[in-house]
Amino acid sequence: LKGESALTKSDSDQKVNLTLGFAQVGNESEFRSANTKSIIAAAEKEGIDLIFENAENNQEKQIAIIKGFIDKGVDVIAFSPIVEYGWEEVLQEAKDAGIPVILSDREIEVEDPSLWTSFIGSDFVEEGRRAARWLVNNMRTSKEKINIIELEGTKGSAPALGRKEGFNEILRDNPNLQVLESLSGDFTFKKGKEMMKNALLRYGKDVDAVYAHNDDMAIGAIEAIEEFGLKPGNDIKVISIDATKKALYALSSEKLNFSVECNPLLGPQLMKAAMDLKQGKNIPMKVITSEETFTQEEANKEIKRRSY
Ligand code: AHR
Repeated sequence: LKGESALTKSDSDQKVNLTLGFAQVGNESEFRSANTKSIIAAAEKEGIDLIFENAENNQEKQIAIIKGFIDKGVDVIAFSPIVEYGWEEVLQEAKDAGIPVILSDREIEVEDPSLWTSFIGSDFVEEGRRAARWLVNNMRTSKEKINIIELEGTKGSAPALGRKEGFNEILRDNPNLQVLESLSGDFTFKKGKEMMKNALLRYGKDVDAVYAHNDDMAIGAIEAIEEFGLKPGNDIKVISIDATKKALYALSSEKLNFSVECNPLLGPQLMKAAMDLKQGKNIPMKVITSEETFTQEEANKEIKRRSY
């Protein structure tokens, strides 16, 4: 999947009579808004009857929404799981009702893999590795110890866990880079800014870099750094994940140093998978999105192409 090009690639010209229930995470980030738009637009394009519900970052609410889809007898359920754990009971109910489940954007941890049919999304561990590699390659020789503040995404969510794992894996071989503190910013601008403000009050100029699990928190951190009287991108390096348009602008103005792409435009692939399931076709268990990374030099070219 590259950008929105998959929108034109639907290989079925015939409309499939399909009701799809989708339980979204919430409205926490620019990524999420783009993901929501992509799903709604792709369903409309394919003439799919989409029941779209928003769980507002609350797992209990997301479970209740999924139960509602089971009661309605939808053809396919898709959801972007708020956290990795705690899905067995509701997914067993979906399985017992004969409703296939597609995991969109985030994976889950369950012992029985037959509780879900397919996952479409990113490799979060690799995203974390890519972020760490930039720091290693660009900061290794600048000081004896490089002090990093990590702004984590929602606790227990697949992207927060995966991005931490991949980042730490690379740092293990580079002991001069160390995480001073990991703080949860819940993938939001507001909490990212608040957490960075607190970190600066504690560590001040000892902070060399910020690793934010998404752009929204990074942009919050940039504001906190400026309000503290330092120059983001220069006094403190800032790296993030998603590579939304706002992040590309921050790269271009040299306040952000690096962003790892996480593609939210999953709607077309999701609709194709749901239609295939309705038609009794086999679909791949995992479809991993191919993604890029962006430096300050690369941002300007990409801004023109970015739709979100
Ligand atoms: O699951 C993907 C993550 O969720 C995005 O990187 C983040 O911005 C969002 O909230």
